[in-house]
Amino acid sequence: MHIDPLEKKWIQISLGMVSLFMGIIMIDALFHGVNAPSNVETIDSRKIHLSEEFAEENLGVQVAENGDITVRMVAGRYAFFPKHITLPAETKVTFRWVSMDVLHGVHMPMTNMSTMIVPGYVSQIESSFPRPGEYPMLCNEYCGLGHDHMWSKALVIEKEEWEAMRAKQAAALNITATADEESNNE
Ligand code: CUA
Repeated sequence: MHIDPLEKKWIQISLGMVSLFMGIIMIDALFHGVNAPSNVETIDSRKIHLSEEFAEENLGVQVAENGDITVRMVAGRYAFFPKHITLPAETKVTFRWVSMDVLHGVHMPMTNMSTMIVPGYVSQIESSFPRPGEYPMLCNEYCGLGHDHMWSKALVIEKEEWEAMRAKQAAALNITATADEESNNE
């Protein structure tokens, strides 16, 4: 089959471009952890506040006994709840997002955090923050008149600082718990 040399050149260029883009996608996926969210887990959006996992007292940053950090967040017109969270830098964090009303999205610039939050589903993403600083969480799916005001903040601090903060909070909780016990005993 005869192929015009100029046409051949353009076929090569276009194949080269496709390979380049595929390569970039593969490097991002395999080495930078940038993946399409694929967690399929359903939840009844009307009963989120009654569910155990996303009840108000379980929202925000939770540390399991083995040290794993999970952040549970609820998106609703027009904010992410809780409004402020504090996280350690250079640590793996698992985010679990649910919507209590309509379709939202969340985007945290300079991180791999970008997912739709579809009512009825739990969106789960693993992330980590290499540098301390203030990271905004922005809604990136049009969800109503207040859409462009829909954002919250994550404060990322040094790991040691974060651990010290946790220890202090735990100690404060212990003090109130003992104080309560004592007043009950009186
Ligand atoms: Cu929520 Cu836009």
